[in-house]
Amino acid sequence: MYSKQKSSKMRLPVRRSHIYLLFLFVIFTIGWFIIIRLDGKLKVPRGDVLRPSVKSERWLRKHDGSGSSLNPLAGNWNLKDLGGSSMKRIDCLINNEYSISCLKSRDGVVHVPFNFVKKYFDIDGHLVKTGDGREYLSWEHSYSKIYRPKKPYNSSGPFLWFENYNVEVRDRVKCISGSKGVPISTQWEPNGHFYPIQIAQFGLSHFSKNLTLGKPRVLVLEDGSLKQDQWIREPIKKDSSGLPMIHPLDDYSSHGGSNGKVVYINGDKISFKLKKRRSNSDLSLSVRLKPSSNFSMTVFLISDSGKEYSVSYAPIDEDFVDDETTYGFGAANEAWTTLARDVGVDLQKAYSTSGRKLSAKSRGLHVSEIVFKGQTLLDDLLLSSSIHEPHFFAAVKWLMESQDRQGGWPIKVTRKLSSGSLVLQPGWYSAMAQGQGISLLTRMYQYTKNETYLKAAIRALALFDGNSTNGGIRTYFLDKYVWFEEYPTVPSSFVLNGFIYSLFGLYDLKNTCEKLCIKSTHLFEDGLNSLRQLLPLFDNGFGTLYDLRHLSLKSEPKLARWDYHTTHINQLLYLNSFLNESQFSNTAKRWIGYMKGRRAPHN
Ligand SMILES: *[C@@H]1O[C@H](CO)[C@@H](O)[C@H](O)[C@H]1NC(C)=O
Ligand SMILES: *[C@@H]1O[C@H](CO)[C@@H](O)[C@H](O)[C@H]1NC(C)=O
Ligand SMILES: *[C@@H]1O[C@H](CO)[C@@H](O)[C@H](O)[C@H]1NC(C)=O
Ligand SMILES: *[C@@H]1O[C@H](CO)[C@@H](O)[C@H](O)[C@H]1NC(C)=O
Ligand SMILES: *[C@@H]1O[C@H](CO)[C@@H](O)[C@H](O)[C@H]1NC(C)=O
Ligand SMILES: *[C@@H]1O[C@H](CO)[C@@H](O)[C@H](O)[C@H]1NC(C)=O
Repeated sequence: MYSKQKSSKMRLPVRRSHIYLLFLFVIFTIGWFIIIRLDGKLKVPRGDVLRPSVKSERWLRKHDGSGSSLNPLAGNWNLKDLGGSSMKRIDCLINNEYSISCLKSRDGVVHVPFNFVKKYFDIDGHLVKTGDGREYLSWEHSYSKIYRPKKPYNSSGPFLWFENYNVEVRDRVKCISGSKGVPISTQWEPNGHFYPIQIAQFGLSHFSKNLTLGKPRVLVLEDGSLKQDQWIREPIKKDSSGLPMIHPLDDYSSHGGSNGKVVYINGDKISFKLKKRRSNSDLSLSVRLKPSSNFSMTVFLISDSGKEYSVSYAPIDEDFVDDETTYGFGAANEAWTTLARDVGVDLQKAYSTSGRKLSAKSRGLHVSEIVFKGQTLLDDLLLSSSIHEPHFFAAVKWLMESQDRQGGWPIKVTRKLSSGSLVLQPGWYSAMAQGQGISLLTRMYQYTKNETYLKAAIRALALFDGNSTNGGIRTYFLDKYVWFEEYPTVPSSFVLNGFIYSLFGLYDLKNTCEKLCIKSTHLFEDGLNSLRQLLPLFDNGFGTLYDLRHLSLKSEPKLARWDYHTTHINQLLYLNSFLNESQFSNTAKRWIGYMKGRRAPHN
């Protein structure tokens, strides 16, 4: 990036350095933006690599004779070595194609703007301020993070590293469905659809968090006894039978909870005001309700800066009504229902769906009031720092209800790869969806001991036998090595991460039902054998390939972005936590090196 020449020159005489200063002054007055054409052939392309960014301008100003020394982290430059104010602007001619503005110091060292280096080499870097006000450039080859297994992977424990995931805040999640309690995806279909992989991941991450995180803080707002003094009835009225619009009711069925009581509510506006407490910034709300169709509940939130927001919930079939910021949790049917919502996520999604900008951060919000309208029975109104169980239960419920006769979770949108060279029509299956569905169902079976979930997991195996040419998810590499396809395209795409996720599903099933699941054992072993054989094909010497479509299509290869590259590494590390094979550990080690710019040696 820069050449470092040893210079033994003495200090320049005063007069000459004055000339340099004048020269620099002129350059800066004329402005940075003028690109000097080096010769007639040189084309000056448009595009921002030519213009020094605000950052690089600031960089230049800052380091042009300011006298402060650079942090060693940003390179072993020292302004004294740079020759102080004697920096000279020169052009860097890039591959004979275009030029950018660089600086040359007195001792011949050329300084290339980092914003250019960053783009050119596709690396990551940003300025960091230390506590004592110093600033340095943190240069990172990769932006992504590795999760190492803390102990060997266990099919009844947390799923891989998913306790670190927060699926609901992903951009591709439109919102959490009010009625199903699972994410609605906008991937490949902006209107939204239920995407089995995303739903399984949502379930697996909440399952894992429930096992690994500390006990949540829980604030009981109402337990059915109406003991709280925060209820405000506006106006205080009695109904036709002379009863107040809000009062406790005895209910010794399971609905009445441990104290055998529920609250009856019927009114135009009955509100529950929260005292300002620190824990009110806990935004996981849960409540049990038996609502009439005229019921609704509005949660008011206040930001640190005093701005008020609200989110409503109502027994309607529509998942989300935009103009009222209302989530529907399914038409009232005279039955008790449990609502478990992350109000912060609901608010954030409501804003992003309608294209509004939410200036408050979830952390800076707290619940100030909950307003009830219409009629309902209510119990166990809680605010917690987190809720996980209802979320993975919801994901499992969705998987149970959506599994089709073939044991599959069909994906109902069109998927195009390689700008349409590979197309999957709505109704396609994914080995990754089958695998992650199995991983969640086997865990649910171990959690509840209810065999229904194990049976559903076993049913999900059937598609592993079907060839992708025939609506299944199986293909072969060069007619020899079996491969389970995340995207069962014809010709095959051989996506690596989806394949390995499917292997974890097979492994989980094999461990959950032992002898009953001989088939999953065989599938896992066959798949693992293919992985051993084909893994080297995904290594390009400085990163990994996302898939092998270039072999099928004879096209350009699909490189894995850093986050997929780290997914590959994480997967190998977790596989190897129980396999302990040198091929996998060596490969993982080399791939971790690629994240620091290391490359395989050349000839
Ligand atoms: C996996 O975890 C379960 C429950 O936490 C435990 O009973 C079992 O021994 C673990 N298995 C292994 C192989 O560590
Ligand atoms: C896990 O779920 C159980 C049952 O809902 C709950 O009691 C426990 O607090 C949860 N743990 C965490 C860490 O969320
Ligand atoms: C809501 O509907 C119920 C009947 O389903 C009725 O008894 C009640 O009075 C209504 N409440 C309000 C506030 O309109
Ligand atoms: C097992 O789970 C299924 C599906 O959720 C449910 O219908 C059934 O009642 C459960 N069985 C038991 C014994 O809890
Ligand atoms: C799937 O393809 C393989 C290899 O082409 C073939 O041997 C096998 O019979 C096919 N299976 C089915 C069910 O079509
Ligand atoms: C993994 O294998 C190596 C040799 O290949 C062995 O030295 C090491 O003890 C093994 N580790 C575990 C945890 O089994």
